[in-house]
Amino acid sequence: MYALRGINLHYRYKNGPMALRGVNIGVRLGECVVVFGRNGSGKTTLIMVLAGLLKPTVGRVEVFGRSLDELEELRRLMGVVFQDPGVQIVGPTVEEDIMFTLRQVYDEAKASRELERLLDEFKLRGLRGRMPHRLSAGEKRRLSLATALAHNPSILLMDEPFSDLDPLELDDLLERIKELKPKKAILIATHNPEIPRLIADRVYILEQGKIVGELEGSIAYPRRLREMLKSSSRPGH
Ligand SMILES: Nc1ncnc2c1ncn2[C@@H]1O[C@H](COP(=O)(O)OP(=O)(O)O)[C@@H](O)[C@H]1O
Ligand SMILES: [Mg+2]
Repeated sequence: MYALRGINLHYRYKNGPMALRGVNIGVRLGECVVVFGRNGSGKTTLIMVLAGLLKPTVGRVEVFGRSLDELEELRRLMGVVFQDPGVQIVGPTVEEDIMFTLRQVYDEAKASRELERLLDEFKLRGLRGRMPHRLSAGEKRRLSLATALAHNPSILLMDEPFSDLDPLELDDLLERIKELKPKKAILIATHNPEIPRLIADRVYILEQGKIVGELEGSIAYPRRLREMLKSSSRPGH
């Protein structure tokens, strides 16, 4: 069974384009699926729709086989790392930022214990008193991952999590994701053709709101991905 499934997803922005045009996608527990596509192909829209933050114009989202439409609480089984880590920061310090999320799901004692665990898991202990907005890109990513996972969701959605990282920060985030993978269903959106083969079990190629290709992560070589983009964006396609 899929942990997360999007069925025939369409999404039209008010006064805007049809950003999704019949997307079918599924992620199982223990799996990392990458959605690869150019800027404007609809990746962020897809993540927002799958996360239940935008309601699809047509189609539906299922979480462990149950419709998100009927059971809003299923949203709690998902954690989202947004493209801009800044939008996720709510606390004046790293510690307060994580505690804010933890207090929404746990009592104070449990929240404090979970805080310590997350500080260790995401190597944030030395940064606990720092201002989130002043952190480096990699540190901000680790913080946004910690807050996205604070309520221990089974499903993790990440929108362009690698874009502003230096090479070591990138390796570090890839390692974190690999550690999480056995216990979670993970979906990552990226425009970077180098990423899928490093992390994906399966890659979906998104072009103008449609899945135009699908391939196994192990053979998702950057050149191949580039070529799939080129051939799908031929005039008349
Ligand atoms: N809030 C919005 N209002 C209108 N159009 C939007 C909005 N957000 C995105 N779009 C449009 O929807 C399409 C898909 O955008 P997006 O999902 O952000 O793509 P990606 O994340 O792959 O860059 C683009 O044409 C974009 O201009
Ligand atoms: Mg985007």
